[in-house]
Amino acid sequence: MKVIGIRITITAALPYANGPLHLGHIRSTYLPADIYARYQRLAGNDAVYICASDEHGTPIVAAAEKEKKKPEEFVKYYHERDKQEFEKLGFSMDIFHRTSSDENREMAQHFFLNLKNKNLVYEKEVEQAYCEKCKRFLPDRFVIGRCPYCDADGQYSDYCDVCGKALAAGELLEPRCSSCGSKPVAKKSRHYFFKLSQLSPKLEKWLKGNKELQSEVVNYLLNWIKDGLKDWDISRDMKWGVPIPGESSKVLYVWFDAPIGYVSSTVAWANKNGKNWEDYWKRDCRVVHFIGKDIVYHHYLFWSAMLMEVGEGFKPPDAIPTRGYLNLQGRKFSKSKNWFVSLEDYLPAFPADYLRYYVTTITPHSVQDADFYWKDFQEKVNNELVACIGNFIHRTLVLINKSCNSQIPKPAKLDEGEEELLRLITERKISVGRRINSFDLKGGLEEINSLASEFNRYLSEREPWKEKDMQKLGNCLYMCSRAVTALAVLLSPYLPFSSEKLLSQLGIDEKVTWEHVDKELLTPGKKIAAAKPLFEKVSDESIKKQEEKLKK
Ligand code: MSP
Ligand code: ZN
Repeated sequence: MKVIGIRITITAALPYANGPLHLGHIRSTYLPADIYARYQRLAGNDAVYICASDEHGTPIVAAAEKEKKKPEEFVKYYHERDKQEFEKLGFSMDIFHRTSSDENREMAQHFFLNLKNKNLVYEKEVEQAYCEKCKRFLPDRFVIGRCPYCDADGQYSDYCDVCGKALAAGELLEPRCSSCGSKPVAKKSRHYFFKLSQLSPKLEKWLKGNKELQSEVVNYLLNWIKDGLKDWDISRDMKWGVPIPGESSKVLYVWFDAPIGYVSSTVAWANKNGKNWEDYWKRDCRVVHFIGKDIVYHHYLFWSAMLMEVGEGFKPPDAIPTRGYLNLQGRKFSKSKNWFVSLEDYLPAFPADYLRYYVTTITPHSVQDADFYWKDFQEKVNNELVACIGNFIHRTLVLINKSCNSQIPKPAKLDEGEEELLRLITERKISVGRRINSFDLKGGLEEINSLASEFNRYLSEREPWKEKDMQKLGNCLYMCSRAVTALAVLLSPYLPFSSEKLLSQLGIDEKVTWEHVDKELLTPGKKIAAAKPLFEKVSDESIKKQEEKLKK
């Protein structure tokens, strides 16, 4: 009987459509979600990987204005570009949608009205910065000035990019309109607030009760909400965004409609694929959000509260795997200081799978930050991927080409050590699967590496190139062929391009599943093609070239 898997909705934080993707985005968010999604599909689960461009908000309008473009035009460029770069990295999103879509406008307005009908949204007059010259309110990033803590100029009214402090309303020194430079005045405006304060106890209970949430994040948040939460201003006086029903010049705050993008993109995907989107959010299903650590409030508190309260069968997320920041050779990524490795820099220089490999090795399932070093990238790729995994696979296939006329040998009775090694493959199928399921993607890769090392050792000890006994030789190379196919399957969530290349070189055309890890994918007698190395060493020159680019 075929076991029918579970439904899993996997999302990755929606990238702002206002600048190029860099390695940091990949590390915390898009790569972990992809490895997880690929594994779930292989394991027979009904997994969808949902993502979209986050296209609203003041940073986008400000950036568009700077380039003298309409926001629509501006976001379209980055939407297309991100989509292409994601494809080049092998990210298997089932849909990459947009928050400016009709589906998202409808879903966001639906959430808003629903929460309002439940008396969880109220209106209140507040003072806002207003530019009399531009005749508009200046929310968030439309005001720039000097940071009161570190004195850095050119900072936004809500956040100092230099010292990293969040700024409260009115704190910024010498405030001015980011568009015309005039000094803003304070003007009253009616805003909508979500009653988050009233939901603190419920959120606390959920944070404590959901054992799948990372305890380090939960503890941090519990500490933060100890004194209760403030109500959340979810409206903005501007044109670009999801219009608030019944208002002519107010839109929903970008952080209200962005996570709803997860749902509305599922709707768009389901409509295209003859599915029912509600099956992926409301009924028996798991909802898993992959994010970086800077957006934990938004997901663990704001979004979870919205899901809890909106009703209609929605439920809070099952897991929110959260990872730390990536720095570049000891310093924060900064576009303006040219301290930056974008995908546009990386992709023409090295294979996607090398980045997937390296980034996984430096990314535990925690909020710990890490550093990207070009030298370390080179070492990990050369010493682990090429020297261990690649070398084992290549040696095996070359030996089968040479000593067995390219045919998979038929094994006779295996010895105890060999039986043991076959069992190890089965054990790894289970343990790597478990690790990926619990978001320990780095640990999973380490187990795959150690399996390759075990077989490398076995191959070196048996020295089949010297073996005169054809049966012993056959046993050894049969064993190694089992390890090669096991590696091809085990690695496929991590290194999809290399795995596919290997399987096709081996002439395996059937659709593989995780169950194939310990199955005989190459039957004795089957002929294989001439071996071609899967990986190549990363040269010193190519690394130097990348390092030089950073110095400019
Ligand atoms: N648009 C919001 C997310 C909305 S989700 C409903 C956003 N966008 S982002 O483009 O700034 O970031 C996308 C993802 O990359 C987020 O998960 C964020 O945490 C992550 N990272 C951004 N810079 C990063 C590093 N330097 N290092 C690691 N992760 C980083 O946030
Ligand atoms: Zn102005």
